[in-house]
Amino acid sequence: MNIRVADDLTHAVGCIDVTHVSISLGEEAEAFEAVSDLSFAVTPGEFVCILGPSGCGKSTLLGAVAGHLKIGGGQLTVDGKPVLGPSPDRGIVFQQHTLFPWKRVRDNVAFGPKMRGVGKQERRRAADQILQLVGLSGFEHFYPSQLSGGMQQRVEIARVLINRPRVLLMDEPFGALDAQTRNMMQEVLLDIWTEIPTTTVFVTHDIDEALFLADRIVVMSARPGRIVEDLRLPFARPRVSDLVTDVEFVRLKRHVRGLLRQPEKAPQLARLDPLGVQEA
Ligand SMILES: Nc1ncnc2c1ncn2[C@@H]1O[C@H](COP(=O)(O)OP(=O)(O)O)[C@@H](O)[C@H]1O
Ligand SMILES: [Mg+2]
Repeated sequence: MNIRVADDLTHAVGCIDVTHVSISLGEEAEAFEAVSDLSFAVTPGEFVCILGPSGCGKSTLLGAVAGHLKIGGGQLTVDGKPVLGPSPDRGIVFQQHTLFPWKRVRDNVAFGPKMRGVGKQERRRAADQILQLVGLSGFEHFYPSQLSGGMQQRVEIARVLINRPRVLLMDEPFGALDAQTRNMMQEVLLDIWTEIPTTTVFVTHDIDEALFLADRIVVMSARPGRIVEDLRLPFARPRVSDLVTDVEFVRLKRHVRGLLRQPEKAPQLARLDPLGVQEA
């Protein structure tokens, strides 16, 4: 199989460095800062969740790591190289599915290798292998519309992982699923991540999801998104569904909920009283 591998296999890959990154959105007069002065690093193989309220800039940040959006300030590198545009090295899975409806599951998954010129037999074999890993053996000939929402997301993950990316980026990938399927998919994802250890950045606004999945949670404030806490989780792996009733889990959940409830910081001008006298 013609897989993409690191330039130097002696070094672990998938290191992300975000240093003082700001990103502006909107045109000219309507331009605004969506995320402001973000700094954090993700080490090879780590599973990091970015958690924050709706609109705080999570998708914006992930879009920049994927190379779909340009940063306005700071530095953003993956394995030491600045992110200049999209690459199969940085695969992204979204909430809404992006499969080709006219292609069968196997051909959807084999699309990346096809674009790189991998032969038909080889890419089909690779696709079937990865489909087995995500639990979709027997569905190779199905069309996406014949699959449930959870199964479609498995195909999305497979079509990204077939490229053996340096980093796996996930933007609320289970947000449209019902609660039960969502919990099952979280376990499926952790199984896949164990089989193919890949640095993962997973965006969510769901505290339970972040606590269940992550090694570390980067908590963001409301817009413009800033980091309010970088939290390392103490839970052992493999994670089991009972974890959500663990005393420490419940304690951390309360703690993170408190962080997310913090009121937005008032802008500088709000500190002036009506007469323009600044507070002491
Ligand atoms: N292309 C765009 N132009 C203008 N505003 C945008 C654009 N995309 C997103 N926004 C706004 O930027 C803010 C951050 O968006 P987003 O990154 O999607 O937040 P999140 O993923 O955390 O919900 C939101 O207030 C959103 O409405
Ligand atoms: Mg979003």
